[in-house]
Amino acid sequence: LWALLSSAACAYLLGSISFAVIVSKLYSKKDVRDYGSGNAGMTNVLRNFGKLPAALTLLGDFTKGVVAVLLGRYLFSLFGVTAFDGAYVAGLFALLGHMYPLYFGFKGGKGVLTSAGIILVINPITLAVLLVEFLIAFGISKMVSLGSIVDAVSYPIVTYIVLKVSGEPALINTLFAALIGIIVLYLHRENIKRIFAGTEYKFGQKKEK
Ligand code: G3P
Repeated sequence: LWALLSSAACAYLLGSISFAVIVSKLYSKKDVRDYGSGNAGMTNVLRNFGKLPAALTLLGDFTKGVVAVLLGRYLFSLFGVTAFDGAYVAGLFALLGHMYPLYFGFKGGKGVLTSAGIILVINPITLAVLLVEFLIAFGISKMVSLGSIVDAVSYPIVTYIVLKVSGEPALINTLFAALIGIIVLYLHRENIKRIFAGTEYKFGQKKEK
């Protein structure tokens, strides 16, 4: 129980550090959530504040996913729990923190980069496949959200295939991936509506719709 509580709490507190909000405030004294899509994520920082702040957001949101999962694993081993991988608990709670941050009025981001950090630790080959998919989807559509949605849908499928091919047990990882995929998709529900309506923001386009 202590392993569970401590890793969940640490991951949530870590996930709650919204780098998009912090970077936009430090950079221009503005809150990224008042601009563009209103999302506290790298894409919206890039859209409104430029490349350097976006790169810092990317680094921060990605790294906190990595750190949360490593910390979760460490705490599980510290408490001698071996039956279950602390990475899953920590990953989920880091995502919840990112999406509903304690320090920023529970209004955060959509979890793509934080998920990427989590996936790097859990299964780096899967992350590499998802990155390629993302680049193709974004390259064709110029919509970051579409790349994210393609990744959210395919994450459990890619996880299952990668683990099956390498002969590792796939069930828990696939369930975890499906859960994360569903959460990330749910947070993209407005983007999905805009994509179908043909009004989603595309990079290189002048005006935000
Ligand atoms: O990761 C967020 C991205 O997929 C969409 O961001 O700002 O266009 O809603 P945004």
